[in-house]
Amino acid sequence: MRILIKNISRLYSPDVKGNFGDIIGLSKPQILIKDGMIEAVIADGDTPDSPGIDQVIDARGYCLLPGFIDAHTHPVFWQTRENEFIMRLQGKSYEQIAEAGGGIRNSARSFQKADKQAIKDLTRERIRLFFEYGTTTIEAKSGYGLTTRDEIKALEIISELNREQDLEMIPTFLGAHEVPDEYRTNREEYIRLLLDEMIPLVAERGLAKYCDVFCEKGVFTVDESREILTTADKFGMKARIHADELNPFGGAELAAEIGAKTADHLVQVSGEGIKLMARNNVIPMLLPVTTFFLRKDVYAPARKMIDAGCKISVATDFNPGSSMTQNMQLAWSVAALKMGLLPGELLWATTYIPALSLEIDHLAGTIETGKQADLILLDIPNLEYLPYHLGINHVKMTIKKGKIIVNMVGA
Ligand code: NIG
Ligand code: FE
Repeated sequence: MRILIKNISRLYSPDVKGNFGDIIGLSKPQILIKDGMIEAVIADGDTPDSPGIDQVIDARGYCLLPGFIDAHTHPVFWQTRENEFIMRLQGKSYEQIAEAGGGIRNSARSFQKADKQAIKDLTRERIRLFFEYGTTTIEAKSGYGLTTRDEIKALEIISELNREQDLEMIPTFLGAHEVPDEYRTNREEYIRLLLDEMIPLVAERGLAKYCDVFCEKGVFTVDESREILTTADKFGMKARIHADELNPFGGAELAAEIGAKTADHLVQVSGEGIKLMARNNVIPMLLPVTTFFLRKDVYAPARKMIDAGCKISVATDFNPGSSMTQNMQLAWSVAALKMGLLPGELLWATTYIPALSLEIDHLAGTIETGKQADLILLDIPNLEYLPYHLGINHVKMTIKKGKIIVNMVGA
């Protein structure tokens, strides 16, 4: 199956031979796709020597970008938590709500009671919105089960949906998302359950590529997080870590020490933590919409990280508690306005760098010959316009592995 995309006004892709933020911009290119992969990027004026084209897509003068890669999401949950959103509008903080038994434990109670098929059907609907807003691959965490049975239930849903629909999901085990109700007075026992039962079982069943921990004051300590992540590593699951979100806690330092792929959130990261991440190639995964959604004024120090030599990534953190959105374009606008990130940097941070963090950079994250045809057409005159015209869905078409998933173009 060969497809030609014509009438593209401009193509934007990270220039991976250059520095962080450098982009390739091509005027009026054409793209040839064969069996779901990019066969050629044809520069302006060249007429493709391509007999046997099965389908021509008329891009109607829209811009072409690589599909977004959202490398931090929690999409498998049951009930939503708009009641907690209202409590925050009335002055309660995320931490106060969690301490009072809300938050992740609230989600876990409803998840444990819900039927697997019903959660799966709802998750299928929820992840469809990633495609609508231009995301073609996500990292997907478990973490609302908090029992062996229910964590497996979440990871099985991810695995089954991976086979049954087109959005690519890379699974992460997050059993250490919170200490569940029944272990509040005996947290060591929950940690033993994670180490001795859940991690070996998840690994044996091949249900997760990564392991994550919510390393935070009142949740898991640095020592507990180290033990969980190094054990998971022995079972073949590399580390990602929720680090230094609400308090400076040593999470970035731990990520550097154990060679985590990413350290995520980092709102309260220390200067030393930034240096160590840069030195040890830990990718800072920044989640600006979460800070916005939690009504906080201080954002992760993205510019300091870039200046220290870190290659940052930006993700939505889609979850019912602290960031109820699948919209990566919103993350662009908030990151631009609140962190001062520039369009070229945002393009890298939402395509190529998250691909590196998920070890799929040979397949996705740029528009290059030999990579998957994961592409989006946007109704923007230039890249600067994307975060500037905010709150708008610019996506006109989403293509995953050469298959048209969203089509507002009528091509
Ligand atoms: O990344 N910080 C921990 N986990 C999520 C929040 C999960 C929830 O509140 O349901 C996050 O923000
Ligand atoms: Fe998260």
